[in-house]
Amino acid sequence: MCGIVGVTGSKRVLAILTSGMARLEYRGYDSAGIACTEIESGGHQGAASLLWRKRTCVGTNSVARLTAELGDKELGDGNCCQLAGIGHVRWATHGRPDIDNAHPHFDCNSEIAVVHNGIVENYESIKSQLVDEGHKFTSETDSEVIAHLLESFSSSTKEPIKALKALLDVLEGTFAIAVLFKHLPSDIYVVRRVSPLIVGLHNGIGLVASDIPAILGETRQVYSLSDNEIAIVRPDSISIVGEDGEVSDPIFRDIQWSLEEAEKGGFDDFMSKEIAEQPASVADTLRGRITEDGTILLDQENLSKDQLREIDKIFIVACGSSFHAGLVAKYAIEHWARVPVEVDISSEFRYRDPILNSRTLVVGVSQSGETIDTFQALKEARLQGAKVLVITNVVDSSMTRECDAVLYTRAGPELGVAATKTHVAQMAALYLLAIHIAQSKNVLYPEESLEIVNHLRQVPDLMAKTISLQSNIADLVHRLSNQTTGDAQPTGNRCRRFFYLGRNVGYPVALEGALKLKEISYLAAEGYPAGELKHGPIALIEPGVIVVAIATRNRLWSKMLANIEEVKARGATVVIVAGEGDEESIAKADEVILVPRVPHPLLAPMIDVIALQLFAYHFALVMGNDVDRPRNLAKTVTVE
Ligand code: AGP
Ligand code: GLU
Repeated sequence: MCGIVGVTGSKRVLAILTSGMARLEYRGYDSAGIACTEIESGGHQGAASLLWRKRTCVGTNSVARLTAELGDKELGDGNCCQLAGIGHVRWATHGRPDIDNAHPHFDCNSEIAVVHNGIVENYESIKSQLVDEGHKFTSETDSEVIAHLLESFSSSTKEPIKALKALLDVLEGTFAIAVLFKHLPSDIYVVRRVSPLIVGLHNGIGLVASDIPAILGETRQVYSLSDNEIAIVRPDSISIVGEDGEVSDPIFRDIQWSLEEAEKGGFDDFMSKEIAEQPASVADTLRGRITEDGTILLDQENLSKDQLREIDKIFIVACGSSFHAGLVAKYAIEHWARVPVEVDISSEFRYRDPILNSRTLVVGVSQSGETIDTFQALKEARLQGAKVLVITNVVDSSMTRECDAVLYTRAGPELGVAATKTHVAQMAALYLLAIHIAQSKNVLYPEESLEIVNHLRQVPDLMAKTISLQSNIADLVHRLSNQTTGDAQPTGNRCRRFFYLGRNVGYPVALEGALKLKEISYLAAEGYPAGELKHGPIALIEPGVIVVAIATRNRLWSKMLANIEEVKARGATVVIVAGEGDEESIAKADEVILVPRVPHPLLAPMIDVIALQLFAYHFALVMGNDVDRPRNLAKTVTVE
């Protein structure tokens, strides 16, 4: 999530910061801010050092506005007196996007400035302790505790390294942190756990960044910090302090990427980068929301357990991929929490006179939090007295202001128009909600819910294994493309018809697989519940048709195999998504995509959908399409 940049020892501190931040802005544009150290004007010997910050919050133009406002500080003219600086572009996780929540954050005395990427999971308990000790907080963020903790630790030990080590002992969660201390005006201290952080050194300039593009203009030699390492970045040296306290010099590596490649993290496009980020999106969405004993903690108690206990009907309202995540949730909520669920397309729900009352929970699912169909549907639901919960990836988006409670997914910004990492993060959030409702209603034994959450925790690793199948799927797509016309011409695919079939939770996966193929490959694809095929669509099955069958094991797996036989008998080419080693499924397939077996069948969609994303992605490449900006589509749809 979001971006950090830091520089020390240059006469162009402000210019390097702002240009680095502009390059990272695509990762987060909720606000932008910098903090710098300076020597008192005149710079005479013994002059005191100063620490100041400047922050803006004007949406996508925050960095440009900040740069303009800094204009009078003579950006990059070589005569400035800033010694060091740190900058941040924010993608809010805790606290709305506003100036007070913009980074850098200060301690009580404005002597320590901190920028942070990631999430401090235990910030609430830390904050209440610090408040009791007299610390004054000025933001709603989790990040501000870092500045106050450092203040507290620094007052007992004057050594920043000791303070940072104490910080590492206390913080739980994920973080990349850069710190300026007023009394050490040329030093930048950085530390990380999980969230990436790199440092570099070039011609007497020390550099820090969360991502390579931020400093690629200054150096091509970087060192990536390991978890729990601390680095002291000075103009002429960088020291690394390991977890064991050993101090060493960094071993730099060369970056060969062009700027454009670096922005995509070395991937060819944002879509494949975002597909690869899916295990992290799910892990981040689960993070801090499951206790040791398997109890689910949701962010806001505005929808208390007592209120949830009263709920006797749930509507899930969403569009596109978010709708498909909602369909998966229907199976999970009804099975685990035993509450009836209807899943509605937002644009239909709003106008169809649904029956709602105060015992109805309406769950709006929207990556952007802005989709007008869903937004208006939720407003209508509230007007009619239903409780409204929003699941979204964007803090403080419109929907979050028109609801009773919000559950944020933590996928980071998604740039590809086709939803991938936000879709799996939605499923993760919805599974949490399903278990939470079940726990509130006491309809699951504690051992049962503990078993489910333990299975859920394993999912990110299984997702990573699925992503590693990419080259097999690419080969399969090439074979199918060649099969079409006897040559590899993409026009051959254009007249093909695809059917995606699934049963139980495999059905929404089939819908999502077909949607992905339509969106980015522009191929005619339909998703069906496999048992429904015989009621009409089977008339379209003939040689040349490709049927993608989701046949990972769930309670209807043997019926699924029978449906596969039906389409094979009519000449379709059958691609089966099956669990590793499932010989019975494999035996039915013309082509097979083997995915890791999932310990709980209801969780399989998070794995199976990845196979279909990759399938669609490689078809789109064969067709020569722009996967990030498919024709006719917009990332956020704010028209009816
Ligand atoms: C998904 O790949 C599409 N871009 C689209 O169907 C999307 O899911 C839909 O427009 C809903 O968007 P939202 O989640 O931002 O509300
Ligand atoms: N959790 C922090 C916040 O909400 C940092 C988010 C980020 O990574 O940008 O401010």
